[in-house]
Amino acid sequence: MKTIYLDNAATTFVSPEVVEAMLPYLKEEYGNPSSIHQLGNRTRVAIEQARKKVAELLNAHPSEIFFTSGGTEADNTALVQSVLDLGVKVIISTPIEHHAVEHTIHSLEKRGWIKAVWLSVNQYGQIDLDELESILKQQKEKTLVSIMHANNEIGTLNPIKRIGELCKEYNAYFHSDTVQTVGHFKIDLQNIPVDFIAASAHKFHGPKGVGFIYINRNTKINPFINGGAQERNMRGGTENVAGIVGLAKALELTYQHLEEDMKFISSLKSYMVQRLSEVIPDMQFNGYTNEKALYTVLNCSFPPHPQGMMFLYKLDIAGICASAGSACSSGSNVGSHVLKAIGAPSDRHAIRFSFSKYNTKEELDKVVEVMTEIYSNVKVS
Ligand SMILES: Cc1ncc(COP(=O)(O)O)c(C=O)c1O
Repeated sequence: MKTIYLDNAATTFVSPEVVEAMLPYLKEEYGNPSSIHQLGNRTRVAIEQARKKVAELLNAHPSEIFFTSGGTEADNTALVQSVLDLGVKVIISTPIEHHAVEHTIHSLEKRGWIKAVWLSVNQYGQIDLDELESILKQQKEKTLVSIMHANNEIGTLNPIKRIGELCKEYNAYFHSDTVQTVGHFKIDLQNIPVDFIAASAHKFHGPKGVGFIYINRNTKINPFINGGAQERNMRGGTENVAGIVGLAKALELTYQHLEEDMKFISSLKSYMVQRLSEVIPDMQFNGYTNEKALYTVLNCSFPPHPQGMMFLYKLDIAGICASAGSACSSGSNVGSHVLKAIGAPSDRHAIRFSFSKYNTKEELDKVVEVMTEIYSNVKVS
């Protein structure tokens, strides 16, 4: 049975071209980038080329890009070092951030280092810019705003340019978790007033365990991971050379075909909305189904069903990979904090399907078939 992979917000298939680009650095080019011999020098050059490429694609300066072990480390770096080095005493954020942000803020607050202020979100997960402005206005202490560009469970997009402008106006630092949007939307960092963004290669057909943090050149922090002088003294530890090369290749590829891929993936999402709405009475969706949300994510709210808890299992048996909420919460019995925050009804069953350019309409037909069968076989109360 062929796997139908519809869990691309959790992680993505690594493109064959990316694997190709990485292979030499797993085989013959094994030098340590900090070594002064030629073998080491070649891997150092590869890292710098990758940095240059990433910076070019995001319209940043190479000195503003620092490779990390992924999005979680990038988020932690921005939040923790803002407190330790920039004198931040207040962090304003949303209740629907990824745990990499949410749990870090809770941990900083628990230590008594900051006061956390959580913005309200509406039923779609959108913040209210007026509320943000009024909270920013009241702050007397150094403040960091941490708001994700797009939510990983329901896909809702935030206007990060406007948020960045507000932060600038009220002299607050701004961090945005862009893990779900780097590689999926054009991001022009000259045009967005932001101090930090976080990205992760495995969300755009690159390898796992590698990402980067963008640190605006005017924002000066110390390393989160202390050690050697790697990453220009910003992140200790021997670099994941193959991963970094793979990240840059994946980002380059994704931006090469962005327009057509966006169009195609959006059409898959619309098709899924249309087909499910046709076959399942009272079909609803969590978050927006239009351009106010990621074109890669569709969070379905299936009507109450006695076997609702078994949906993912039934899909899995049919070879279909999807998530309940996010990948992080789907394996545990802890409910989604995102669905709770938007007030999603607890008697309905949320399944997140997330798409990539490697999906087809025929695969979606299979999902619709499985779900139709589930709803037609059992009498719904
Ligand atoms: C919005 C968001 N932030 C952060 C992360 C964490 O990234 P990583 O898996 O690279 O640590 C994820 C991954 O699921 C994510 O979706």
